[in-house]
Amino acid sequence: MTVLTDRFGRVHNYLRISVTDRCNLRCLYCMPEEGVEFAPSEDLLSYDSIVEVVETAASLGISKLRITGGEPLVRPGLAGLIARLSAIEGIRDISLTTNGVLLAAQAQALKDAGLNRVNISLDTLDPTRFRFIARRGDLKRVMEGIEAAAKVGFSPIKLNCVLLKGVNEDEIASFLKMSYEQPLHVRFIEYMPIGHADEGWRNHYLPLSRVLEIAEESGYKFAPKSDVLGNGPSEDYLIEGGVGSFGLIHPISDHFCKNCNRLRLTSDGGIKPCLYWIDELNVKPALGNPEALHELFMRAMDIKPLNHEMAEKLANQVQTHEPTARRMSQIGG
Ligand code: GTP
Ligand code: 5AD
Ligand code: SF4
Repeated sequence: MTVLTDRFGRVHNYLRISVTDRCNLRCLYCMPEEGVEFAPSEDLLSYDSIVEVVETAASLGISKLRITGGEPLVRPGLAGLIARLSAIEGIRDISLTTNGVLLAAQAQALKDAGLNRVNISLDTLDPTRFRFIARRGDLKRVMEGIEAAAKVGFSPIKLNCVLLKGVNEDEIASFLKMSYEQPLHVRFIEYMPIGHADEGWRNHYLPLSRVLEIAEESGYKFAPKSDVLGNGPSEDYLIEGGVGSFGLIHPISDHFCKNCNRLRLTSDGGIKPCLYWIDELNVKPALGNPEALHELFMRAMDIKPLNHEMAEKLANQVQTHEPTARRMSQIGG
């Protein structure tokens, strides 16, 4: 089988599929309050087209899929797509990244369709602060989503907490406690400058070294944990005696590009070799032609860069190439 190996020898087996750029929240690290112009629905890849692209991707060694958005659960019929993706030969792990607001209602149908795991965004445990960060929605619905995910048997359940200086850093200890007491894997994430006006992340960026300091100050004994099921960049830890675990995703203070194993498919059909840069390859002209799709994936390997330059951006250094103009909600993280 041909495998997706790039110029730097990195083998790609993980495809993140954004099914919509729309979202029912407006998290301050992701979208401006007024929202962004959403793609017209006719520009979205149909579920038939997504299945077609994944069939080619699977023939090239992609075995892990993650469904993202915007918020993927706002697109109707998602469980139907997941059922079709899970039937594709070679696909072994399908997971979903969601803000959790609509999860309680859909958890059982998603599980029945063959979804294996969910990662749920949770940046605060305080309802008022939730409204400040997400600007819409209700923390209670997210907590119900987390409960429903556990009830239908998704495992592991990961919580994604983007740390924002001056906003939620005072909750690190509470999140660590949550991971100690409950069967949840809490991941702390550094705020990334993707397609953003600079001020937001310049003011709120917080390196994750704080998390380990606070874990120590809290009296926890913890050690690296290597068996958390996942395909992404998280560096995981187990607190001695704890029920759950926690992880750190630190793209800026210590990037993990040398181990990158992933490609992205945007909701309007762009194969993105790297989250950070502008390059995309449009699958639409290749639909209906498996060989042309195959070529596009190989081309993505040829143009994939070695790394992003977020730290360089933070240090105001000139970028070697053009960063993406898309926002996080238009890529899917
Ligand atoms: P697992 O399969 O559970 O390991 O999922 P994941 O961590 O790959 O997916 P998730 O959607 O939960 O992403 C968690 C965070 O990691 C988000 O903030 C993503 O934007 C970030 N992330 C995922 N892949 C990359 C990457 O290639 N580069 C960078 N810089 N960040 C990434
Ligand atoms: N920096 C870091 N993580 C982000 N996410 C969204 N925007 C950013 C950002 N600017 C996270 C969300 C979600 C995942 C897809 O990416 O919290 O969990
Ligand atoms: Fe929506 Fe996710 Fe962006 Fe928040 S991070 S606005 S939940 S797409």
